[in-house]
Amino acid sequence: MLDIDSNTTNKFLSYLASSLVYYREFLFFNILFILTILLLTQDVSLLPSLIISLLVIDITALYLIGRRRNKELDEIKTIINNIRKNKYNSEEEIQLGSNLLALQKAIKKMFKKEKSDIEYLQRLQKMRSQFIANVSHELRTPIFAIQGYIETLLNGAITDNNVNMHFLEKANQHTVSLSNLLNDLIDISMIESGEMRMSYRYFRINDLINQVVLENRKIADDKNLELIYIPARDDLEVFGDKDKLRQVLVNLILNSIKYTEKGKIEVLIEEENKHAKIIVRDTGIGIPENYLNRIFERFFRIDKARSRSQGGTGLGLAIVKHIIEAHNSKVAVISKEGEGSEFSFLLKK
Ligand SMILES: Nc1ncnc2c1ncn2[C@@H]1O[C@H](COP(=O)(O)OP(=O)(O)O)[C@@H](O)[C@H]1O
Ligand SMILES: [Mg+2]
Repeated sequence: MLDIDSNTTNKFLSYLASSLVYYREFLFFNILFILTILLLTQDVSLLPSLIISLLVIDITALYLIGRRRNKELDEIKTIINNIRKNKYNSEEEIQLGSNLLALQKAIKKMFKKEKSDIEYLQRLQKMRSQFIANVSHELRTPIFAIQGYIETLLNGAITDNNVNMHFLEKANQHTVSLSNLLNDLIDISMIESGEMRMSYRYFRINDLINQVVLENRKIADDKNLELIYIPARDDLEVFGDKDKLRQVLVNLILNSIKYTEKGKIEVLIEEENKHAKIIVRDTGIGIPENYLNRIFERFFRIDKARSRSQGGTGLGLAIVKHIIEAHNSKVAVISKEGEGSEFSFLLKK
């Protein structure tokens, strides 16, 4: 019994306390009221009864206002706590009283933002773990192979002239893969951390492509592939980072060589109004349509074994995409399985 009483008193006091934030308004209203009555009646003897009745009215009003205010604050507190404890699945579950619709809207907006931030961070976290898993896996392959060849050699194969050179060559090939992978990883991490410094200027595109084609002609010759550059007009200049674009062209041309068994690789330039379109076209194995937008993902390869056996890392096109996007452009790809592929991008001229 006593408990209930003290509880009620506590509640009563807490309601009063809660509405006391309005004491200034009450004071103002009371004084105004007393002054008006006194002015109208000119009778000071009314003052005590006026004060007593105002006191009763004040306390009742304060109590009612406080009760309402506490109720609303409790509602808001509950919602904030629920958001904190992740209890809501959708914003529709957030409901406040009808006089708090503006606040309800604001809380819903905040909830949506927080939810999308959390989802973004979770996606990022997942991508990061996936990336680390991929890197470890890619590193393991050449390292295990090198380890295997060296162990076999140490266990006696070193004196077996039939295999010793072959094993050493194999081990060497895998160290090349390893170093390709590390170089690509360094590039990717520089790009993604924003450390890749770009240096844009106008330069003659013919000079660059001639050089790249010359440097890679032997690799094409070894596969009996024609590597042809159809030059643009000699004074055509494009705007970009020459070294980074060299990397792009090397990547695209080497891909074309890698994924072409017979025929030719053609590099050409089409001039458009304000742009030059650089095209690398091959008569290779092509890319199935459902993979066309996946080949730019890090580590994505249609045929892992084939790519790896040719020193591929699966990072080449991801790097190409980043570099071309840094030029405010986009890599386009058209391909038909069994017939060939065409990669192209625009540069400002
Ligand atoms: N010219 C091409 N013809 C056919 N497939 C290609 C070509 N270029 C890229 N690809 C496919 O896209 C994948 C990703 O390319 P890339 O990122 O350069 O990695 P990789 O190191 O395997 O060459 C390749 O493994 C290959 O399956
Ligand atoms: Mg590649």
